[in-house]
Amino acid sequence: MAMRLQSLLLGVLLLTGFAAADGKTTAVIPSRYSSASLNRSSFPSGFVFGSASASYQYEGAWNEGGRGPSIWDNFTHQYPEKISDGSNGDVADDQYRRYKEDVKIMKDMGLDAYRFSISWSRFGGVNKEGVQYYNNLINELLNKGLTPYATIFHWDLPQALEEKYGGFLNRQIVNHFRDYAELCFKLFGDRVKHWITQNEPRTYIVNGYASGGFAPGRCSAWQNLNCTSGDSATEPYIVAHHFLLAHAHAVKVYKTKYQASQKGVIGMSLGTRWFVPVSKATRHRNAANRSLDFMFGWFMEPMTSGQYPHSMQVLVKERLPKFTEEESKLIKGSFDFVGINYYTTYYSRYQPHNNSANASYLTDARVFESTELNGVPLGPPAASSWLVVYPKGIQEILLYTKHKYNDPLIYITENGVDEFNDPTLSLPQSLNDTHRIDYHYHHLDYLRKAINDGVNVKGYFSWSLMDNFEWTSGYTVRFGFVYIDHDDGLKRHPKLSATCGANYYDEVSVFTSYFKYLIILHLISFNFRNYIF
Ligand SMILES: *[C@@H]1O[C@H](CO)[C@@H](O)[C@H](O)[C@H]1NC(C)=O
Ligand SMILES: *[C@@H]1O[C@H](CO)[C@@H](O)[C@H](O)[C@H]1NC(C)=O
Ligand SMILES: *[C@@H]1O[C@H](CO)[C@@H](O)[C@H](O)[C@H]1NC(C)=O
Ligand SMILES: *[C@@H]1O[C@H](CO)[C@@H](O)[C@H](O)[C@H]1NC(C)=O
Ligand SMILES: *[C@@H]1O[C@H](CO)[C@@H](O)[C@H](O)[C@H]1NC(C)=O
Ligand SMILES: *[C@@H]1O[C@H](CO)[C@@H](O)[C@H](O)[C@H]1NC(C)=O
Ligand SMILES: *[C@@H]1O[C@H](CO)[C@@H](O)[C@H](O)[C@H]1NC(C)=O
Repeated sequence: MAMRLQSLLLGVLLLTGFAAADGKTTAVIPSRYSSASLNRSSFPSGFVFGSASASYQYEGAWNEGGRGPSIWDNFTHQYPEKISDGSNGDVADDQYRRYKEDVKIMKDMGLDAYRFSISWSRFGGVNKEGVQYYNNLINELLNKGLTPYATIFHWDLPQALEEKYGGFLNRQIVNHFRDYAELCFKLFGDRVKHWITQNEPRTYIVNGYASGGFAPGRCSAWQNLNCTSGDSATEPYIVAHHFLLAHAHAVKVYKTKYQASQKGVIGMSLGTRWFVPVSKATRHRNAANRSLDFMFGWFMEPMTSGQYPHSMQVLVKERLPKFTEEESKLIKGSFDFVGINYYTTYYSRYQPHNNSANASYLTDARVFESTELNGVPLGPPAASSWLVVYPKGIQEILLYTKHKYNDPLIYITENGVDEFNDPTLSLPQSLNDTHRIDYHYHHLDYLRKAINDGVNVKGYFSWSLMDNFEWTSGYTVRFGFVYIDHDDGLKRHPKLSATCGANYYDEVSVFTSYFKYLIILHLISFNFRNYIF
């Protein structure tokens, strides 16, 4: 393993060095990388390198094996106009059928671990076929030497619960979620030792209940966003409250009934950006702090102190639910580790309160957040409009978390970058994702710096193993290390970031190691150099 990463970084050195010489790189920091300064041994021993996925974005087989509909099935089917290309996850990457092939890809990439999510909709009662699928996947991973990291909930709530009582809007979800989580511990906990209760609740909540772009598509009518119904001033806070309680109860069940015998760990994955104030002025620095409170502290603060952030209490007032003393105790400390999903950084600017506007989560923080300042982006833009590349932000958010939240154990559970799906490109061009190599190199470099600064990070999961269904962007953007060919039966092609493989050199088997491939890259750039010079 040590040798492999060394090769990766050596290759990155050569590749980016070459790209820089070519003047085409958009690297954020100077391109003097060397395996002598960043390699496998730059990370603590036992540090985990994995890749992440989610059931709705990957599995497909939406109505097979006894699976019921989730809110994402109904949302995409009912409102195809809300998805950029009108698509859905009915088939997605078809991982439900191809998990063996996909695990082999992971193995050949040299990954240590795979983070996947369990689809609640596959368990109507205890549906044997749903259970069997996850048993198969988990066993296949273990057989190939990969460690499974399971997310219990990654947004695909059973439609039945949405229809029955309003899903996460209703307090009934708390016990229901706890029971579902317990079922997962019971069924899979003999083999799964890393549990993530929920993935990015804030993304689910803001898009599902404040701006309406995600399932279940709720928001206030006055926003004119075509939501069926909702209230952007109150529902996001109620839903977040239930997420936190559901999480805390699931953790309690794990800790009291399963942890001693199963010996695993449990946490939650929070998505957060880093925020840079638009100037040194105190009002903008305060604004950046509020941006973090409303995005990250919303969950992190209750999990560490048992209360919502002070800024939220002051600004949201009576619309912010309160924890009883007992709930507060339950939530405080309800994790073994914190998962951080970091992709990007935004500017934050103080925005005065507008008395004639209706309240909404979207304006409560009194900040204006943007990827650019005076027309200049904070970093190179990726395909998704919300993503600009700012690698230093990963170090900043890690240091902030260490200092503000009492030095927790952290896993980076997502970090990645996308490119547009461009049908005019040839396959070799589509696989030439030098920007992805650049992105991960720089983020790993800043991650290492954070670890050297004393942040307790034990693993890094890239988003994502393969191109997949990217929610409202459908298949218009590609986040994968592996290219999915939608015109050729979802054939998997490793991109340059995953391997050089047979697409470039026939003598190399299809999937050379993720960490080995850069030896080949070395050869390529070397050959290019010889060719050019
Ligand atoms: C790996 O990187 C570390 C610094 O992070 C350096 O001290 C060490 O010499 C490097 N090892 C190799 C084999 O290049
Ligand atoms: C959700 O989808 C299922 C399956 O297609 C369908 O039977 C059901 O009527 C839908 N529910 C709503 C509220 O649209
Ligand atoms: C709302 O729906 C109408 C009709 O489908 C469409 O023309 C309009 O662009 C939509 N507005 C938004 C904000 O999505
Ligand atoms: C922002 O929060 C950080 C960390 O809690 C704190 O050190 C800093 O003083 C705050 N900034 C301002 C301007 O209040
Ligand atoms: C305040 O909100 C009202 C109602 O949405 C809007 O018409 C007005 O332009 C806003 N004022 C400012 C300064 O943004
Ligand atoms: C505020 O909301 C009410 C309905 O709750 C609506 O009638 C009114 O137009 C909204 N005001 C603005 C400025 O959007
Ligand atoms: C891949 O991209 C790099 C720059 O990003 C470029 O120099 C190289 O020619 C490209 N290779 C192919 C096969 O397109």
